[in-house]
Amino acid sequence: MTYERTRASLETYFDRTAADTWARLTSTDPVSRIRATVRAGRDRMRGVLLSRLPEDMTGMRLLDAGCGVGQLSVEAARRGAEVLGVDISPNLLEVARDRMPEDVRARVTLVAGDMLDEAHGRFDHVVAMDSLIHYRTTDIADALARLAERTSRAVIFTVAPSTPALETMRFVGKAFPRSDRSPAIIPVRAAKLSAALAERSDWRLDSVERVKSGFYFSEAMEFAPK
Ligand SMILES: C[S@@+](CC[C@H](N)C(=O)[O-])C[C@H]1O[C@@H](n2cnc3c(N)ncnc32)[C@H](O)[C@@H]1O
Repeated sequence: MTYERTRASLETYFDRTAADTWARLTSTDPVSRIRATVRAGRDRMRGVLLSRLPEDMTGMRLLDAGCGVGQLSVEAARRGAEVLGVDISPNLLEVARDRMPEDVRARVTLVAGDMLDEAHGRFDHVVAMDSLIHYRTTDIADALARLAERTSRAVIFTVAPSTPALETMRFVGKAFPRSDRSPAIIPVRAAKLSAALAERSDWRLDSVERVKSGFYFSEAMEFAPK
């Protein structure tokens, strides 16, 4: 139930409330200094996630789970992957379609819906960049275990790492009126996620790298067969 509730609030936020802000953040248009740090952090994180994927992905199928405007989808397709980008926001997918470079158009399919839908089929790799950061740890574990059942290699994703500073920011954030805030980011303790995953799957969880840039703070993780 919490998964569906979170997804519904994210759909409202990304498809309506923040669709324009998100389109701008992911473009090359000028943004505020604070947002520029977030953009730089996200660019670095995309590089980290891509570094965990094979250089040559010819013939491989990749799910870009919560693909947004498709930035990572484009890079993976340039490595030869057949990419399925799934997002609950049709508006962001529209932006993705408009921006899709000609050279990768044939290899990227964009679908509006839930990343966990079994109808999407099987994958060699799954990437979920910052699309699980608003979900509770147990919901993330459920999602990863379900994705793992249909993935042959690795699920590479990000979480908001739990640190005392982030917990404080989260507490402070609660002082603002609900309508002014994006859906809460829920910090994850790696040990708790690892324990929740051990109950659901025999794959292993590895921490890859943390990226901190201004207000952006995210940790790349890999969930893969032992
Ligand atoms: C912070 S954005 C990141 C987008 C993209 N991965 C990137 O890094 O540019 C999170 C995205 O995940 C999508 N999302 C969240 N939950 C989802 C779900 N259950 N199924 C599909 N998309 C989801 C949101 O609509 C949003 O576009």
